[in-house]
Amino acid sequence: MSAGLVQAAYIVAALFFILSLAGLSKQESAKSGNYYGIAGMTIALIATIFSPSAQGFGWIILAMIIGGSIGIYYAKKVEMTEMPELVAVLHSFVGMAAVLVGYNSFLEPPAPVSTDLAGMHAEHVIHLVEVFLGVFIGAVTFTGSIVAFGKLRGVISSSPLNLPHKHKLNLLAIVVSLLLMYHFVSAEGSMFALIVMTLIAFAFGYHLVASIGGADMPVVVSMLNSYSGWAAAAAGFMLANDLLIVTGALVGSSGAILSYIMCKAMNRSFVSVIAGGFGQEISISGDEEQGEHREISAEDVADMLKNSKSVIITPGYGMAVAQAQYPVYEITEKLRSQGIDVRFGIHPVAGRLPGHMNVLLAEAKVPYDIVLEMDEINDDFSSTDTVLVIGANDTVNPAALEDPNSPIAGMPVLEVWNAQNVIVFKRSMNTGYAGVQNPLFFKENTHMLFGDAKDSVDAISKSL
Ligand code: TAP
Repeated sequence: MSAGLVQAAYIVAALFFILSLAGLSKQESAKSGNYYGIAGMTIALIATIFSPSAQGFGWIILAMIIGGSIGIYYAKKVEMTEMPELVAVLHSFVGMAAVLVGYNSFLEPPAPVSTDLAGMHAEHVIHLVEVFLGVFIGAVTFTGSIVAFGKLRGVISSSPLNLPHKHKLNLLAIVVSLLLMYHFVSAEGSMFALIVMTLIAFAFGYHLVASIGGADMPVVVSMLNSYSGWAAAAAGFMLANDLLIVTGALVGSSGAILSYIMCKAMNRSFVSVIAGGFGQEISISGDEEQGEHREISAEDVADMLKNSKSVIITPGYGMAVAQAQYPVYEITEKLRSQGIDVRFGIHPVAGRLPGHMNVLLAEAKVPYDIVLEMDEINDDFSSTDTVLVIGANDTVNPAALEDPNSPIAGMPVLEVWNAQNVIVFKRSMNTGYAGVQNPLFFKENTHMLFGDAKDSVDAISKSL
């Protein structure tokens, strides 16, 4: 394949990636978005493998077969609820790849394009800066992603690491790295400076994510998504590969935009997320019970639903665990056939990954037009007869609005308690992801339906 043809293929692939992102932004077009992404990646791989600069065809194919098989195996095996963990591990690979590409590119720099001495010197300096930044971002992404994986998997404590002077330590790591970069460039490349910086960046990435509490992990995973994009873009500069630069920038900026949207949804400051370890100043309120709760049977819930004109269902992580979306669809259809208005209210961080609830409901064939975002539905609870809170907890916690000392203070929530009746489906009085008690359970208009969400919804469906 000629170099010109490779460049043309790269442009087509980049266009496919942009179409893919556009498609993925809406449920209706998400499937085609995925296909655009696959098409773009296939073109990119073929063009790269057959480009004039590629060597070792057999090795590339062997690596692709091994990597692809591992990828297919895990993608098939992974549970929806484990998806953020998988994503975190994949980000760590991108980070490590950027580190390795950086070292390789330092040891075997590309041939200069300029013919005069000044031009060659300028190119060399730019290349050294690319190597240094690429390795730095890659190393931070690598250890940060490993810690995020550990926290999500539960092998590392989800409570934030609180080293003394932690912000000053972060600042020190950045300042020392900048000084090392100055030395690295002025010494026209120093392996010692590169290795010391790599070690500092590994520690910095670890500390940055370790000092963030479990409840803020969704934003962290999305931030790491953005970092991995910038790491790939840096690798693209080192390898002089335009497509890698474009793709990395797309991932980097879309990850940053998603982080910003999630920060807004959780009322967190975007800047403090990047700085690492925000929200710790808030005192942790206990998880002790705050009054009497009332229980209800599935049959009584069915009666209540039959006597309602409007119903809103707010699903959360528990619906995913119980795989209750199918019977939820069943009762939705039964109620709608009786002329009852049924809608869904989705919190932006319900479940364990962005869009988690939307994916589950789409899987169960719930029509898109009755699935509404939090902002679209929050004012309607006061005119709603019955709300079914199915496996949600933090995302319907009034303490976020009422208790300034709560760890989730300021996070916008679904204001379900404004409805006439609220039924909470869960197995016990245990707390949700953030580990805080939920005053909703003790409100006068709330009833608890204990048990696995799927069994409870099945029982209601039978009664209906
Ligand atoms: P959570 O606050 O995590 O609460 C889920 C509830 O589901 C628990 O209280 C649990 O109570 C119940 N549950 C678990 N298994 C169940 C089952 N089989 N049947 C019935 N109930 C079951 O859920 P949420 O409201 O969706 O909030 C999400 C939380 O996760 C937020 O704090 C968010 O910040 C965090 N988070 C979100 C993401 C993203 S991007 N969405 C990623 C990581 C973390 P029992 O144990 O008593 O049954």
